Amino acid sequence: MKTLVLCNQKGGVGKSAVATLLAHYLVHRGQRVLAIDLDHQGNLSKPLRLSGRAAVSSFAADALFTAAAPLQPLPDKPFALVPGDRALLGLERQPALHTPFARQFRSFLAAVDARFDVCVIDTNPNPDIRVIAALASADCVLSPIQLNQEAMDGVSGLLNHDRVGLRKIKAVLNPKLALIGLLPTMVEPTPFQKANFVQVVQQYHGLMIRIGDGPGAFASIPRRSCIAEAQADGAVLWEMKKTAARDTWREIEPSLARIADIVTAHAAIKEPSHATAA
Ligand SMILES: Nc1ncnc2c1ncn2[C@@H]1O[C@H](COP(=O)(O)OP(=O)(O)OP(=O)(O)O)[C@@H](O)[C@H]1O
Ligand SMILES: [Mg+2]
Repeated sequence: MKTLVLCNQKGGVGKSAVATLLAHYLVHRGQRVLAIDLDHQGNLSKPLRLSGRAAVSSFAADALFTAAAPLQPLPDKPFALVPGDRALLGLERQPALHTPFARQFRSFLAAVDARFDVCVIDTNPNPDIRVIAALASADCVLSPIQLNQEAMDGVSGLLNHDRVGLRKIKAVLNPKLALIGLLPTMVEPTPFQKANFVQVVQQYHGLMIRIGDGPGAFASIPRRSCIAEAQADGAVLWEMKKTAARDTWREIEPSLARIADIVTAHAAIKEPSHATAA
């Protein structure tokens, strides 16, 4: 099982929407998928529950850190969800237990390793023990970003934050962690966003995800109301009746396909040559 974490301490950048799209897409490609929602807001759990596609575990995600007794087995299905719940909020308030929490989370992933091909983990936007435990155990991390100034300024923190910076985690806790890269989301064709896209490509070139040979051929997700609708209604984007949804799917499929390829053929990931920039 390859474990992919969606992570960016900036709120509202599209982590949960991308996690949902990727979970459905990987299932569509025949992968056995375990989705774990580490955010108490439950924005991965809700659309997956509503979709009726994922079998929901009998326990919530806080139990992955704290359960005293062995957990009930996950549903014997190729697509399972461990939903988020409010008890996740309490983990950060027990610092003496953070190391055992992280260890227990890692043991859970090891115990289900043969059951699934890919584990997709959505995280909360605050840099806390949930995010650290997920990154400390993961194979890969993908960071959705928005192309506004504030979010762009946040990229450096995402990489270098004292506690949850991806480079720090890789150096100190998890040398095998591969940074798939930055995924611009909710991209709009405004001059401001276009200029920011150019800037992010220049500054973080090695962290952009190539989907072709052209100069601007990097993975990204446009802002489209049908993506928000799919998220709210639990619909699978490419199965929606609207023409707009099918057009959107055609636009984003190359990006999701590339990310899915990288995750499933994880050995192919090399540390980007520019990963130490900025
Ligand atoms: N590509 C998109 N186009 C249009 N709306 C989008 C897109 N991606 C996400 N959204 C919407 O934007 C809002 C924020 O997205 P999302 O919940 O995925 O962000 P997040 O990073 O997970 O937020 P949080 O940090 O709170 O967990 C949601 O209402 C979602 O449906
Ligand atoms: Mg979210």
